[in-house]
Amino acid sequence: MRNIIFFLFAFFCVTKAIAEDGSRLWLRFDKAQNPAKVDVACKSATMDIAAGELSDYWHGGSVALTIDKSLPDDDGFRISSTPEGVTIASATDAGVLYGVYELLRTKGSGVSGDYNAPAFKLRILNHWDNPDGSIERGYAGKSIFRWEEINDKKGTMSQWMRDHLTEYARANASIGINCAVLNNVNASPKMLTTAYINKVKLIADVLRPYGIKVFLSVNFGSPKALGDTKTADPLDVNVGKWWAKKVKVIYRAIPDFGGFLVKANSEGQPGPGDYNRTHAEGANMLAAALKPYNGIVMWRSFVYGNHKGEDRVKQAVSEFKNLDGKFMDNVIVQCKNGPLDFQPREPYAPIFDQMKATPLMPEFQITQEYLGQSRHLVYLAPMWKEFFDFIPKEQLRAMTAIAGVANIGDDTNWCGHHFSQANWYAFGRLAWNPELSSEEIADEWLRLTFCDKKEFLLPMTEVMMSSREACVDYMMPVGLHHIFKADHHYGPEPDGNQPHFPIEWLPIYYHKADATGIGFNRSSTGTNATEQYREPYRSLYDNIETCPEEYLLWFHHVPWTYRLRNGRSIMHELIVHYDMGVSEVERYVVQWQDMRKYVDKQRFEEVSSRLSHQLENAKEWRDVCTKYFQSIEQDALLKQTK
Ligand code: GCU
Repeated sequence: MRNIIFFLFAFFCVTKAIAEDGSRLWLRFDKAQNPAKVDVACKSATMDIAAGELSDYWHGGSVALTIDKSLPDDDGFRISSTPEGVTIASATDAGVLYGVYELLRTKGSGVSGDYNAPAFKLRILNHWDNPDGSIERGYAGKSIFRWEEINDKKGTMSQWMRDHLTEYARANASIGINCAVLNNVNASPKMLTTAYINKVKLIADVLRPYGIKVFLSVNFGSPKALGDTKTADPLDVNVGKWWAKKVKVIYRAIPDFGGFLVKANSEGQPGPGDYNRTHAEGANMLAAALKPYNGIVMWRSFVYGNHKGEDRVKQAVSEFKNLDGKFMDNVIVQCKNGPLDFQPREPYAPIFDQMKATPLMPEFQITQEYLGQSRHLVYLAPMWKEFFDFIPKEQLRAMTAIAGVANIGDDTNWCGHHFSQANWYAFGRLAWNPELSSEEIADEWLRLTFCDKKEFLLPMTEVMMSSREACVDYMMPVGLHHIFKADHHYGPEPDGNQPHFPIEWLPIYYHKADATGIGFNRSSTGTNATEQYREPYRSLYDNIETCPEEYLLWFHHVPWTYRLRNGRSIMHELIVHYDMGVSEVERYVVQWQDMRKYVDKQRFEEVSSRLSHQLENAKEWRDVCTKYFQSIEQDALLKQTK
């Protein structure tokens, strides 16, 4: 009996040890048999981490880590081979650390002697995490920032917090992410109380050695909401003084604090508009407070509802265009990649064409709010690359910052779906180098996260690469958009018409399917949103004959009798796409079953179960939308023949 118990116990320990829960992300380097020999030019917390990673995981002989002040001060690095081994040089400690991760990731094939520098200076995660631990649009558990586990009086935090923050920072550093906005853009004023500032300081202390700066989202009404002033009017002297004092307190605690992210006069948030002031007046007041410390303001252009009756996709330009050039030089206007709201496919946001005298930065959404959340395998790099392709090269090169709304929570595997980790990874890699191809990044991530056998890599890279288009096909083909179930944005609701919601949230407002046809006329005969685009896109999108068909129903209201270029009617075309989307997911389910031998049991089964769920949901999209649109089409055609 005792033997059996011992055997069961031993079996339990072994299976536990080899169970793969996904917590190690893409950081699964093989342990070095003997610690690598590492020469470190100077001591610092960051250099210690860099040296530690190499001695633990580098298999290729000795490495010298050097600070070379003649290199550009941009966190870039050079990895070169010398007779003694490998040298990693950078002007900064963080650059050396990035070089170390490059060396480990490429197992030495990155030793090129070329200088490798990031495209964007600030590579930022935006966490939409609330102080109570919930995460807006978070699908991977609760927040990793457990504020109640930080004791600001004693200056301590729980071991769980410290371990997780360290792992989080390491994962970010390994892909070059160097900034984190810790809290939701729908910001609680509480974040600016002394207790929270002191907690933020403790988080900043853990992240700093990994080269990560912290930022906060701030509620524009904070001074008033905290009861310190009577108003939050940006031109009120006391308000300006309040912010200046607050900023001073923050920098005393966190000397390298990054600055503020602000959502103002949008979806019910307070802002300068409450006092008839402009976004520029609001942003500049905060920018003036941050300026002495080199802090910045990231002011979001995601606004709507202030221009009653205007097409929502036009409103950012309507509100910001006249302010072009009026922002202080430490303000960056942060703009979502599309003009609506992180849909599976949107044309690019034309604000990027309309504001040439103001620094802009793109905001991507890594958390898949409208792309199946953490239940669907949807690889987002191709979508982000599509955006980059629309922005003129020069303009992209001039941008200094890029943000991604994080998909990270306290789930064991960080992101809910094992494949959602790829989107965090891809964001970091593209923020470093937007020229990388989506395939390269997928291949890299799969190798690091699962296995490097080509029998696994080829089919799974293909699955990842096609997954975004599949999602567009089963959710919103041919330019349809925003027909999600209200509020939680998961699953279809084409008949959505809740009278208590703002019109800009209603599916029927977007697809406009009726007796005359389907789609939103944003051409010059409609809302004229096309006018906000630069040529050639303006003319291309405006004309139904030249509009790329993937945007057809985004820009045009198409009669049911309209024939697409392939001769199909619009309804027929929609059905073909819905079917294609579903059969792609069917293919993924089968493909994954063939991958069993390359993947550990736990992750294999977890991905299998998510894929089955994705298939069910894709079918729901197809069935619900086809039925709904077809019934309108049939009625319309019947009426026409009468
Ligand atoms: C979307 C999302 C909100 C979020 C908002 C924003 O509308 O559904 O949860 O607050 O974007 O980006 O501010």
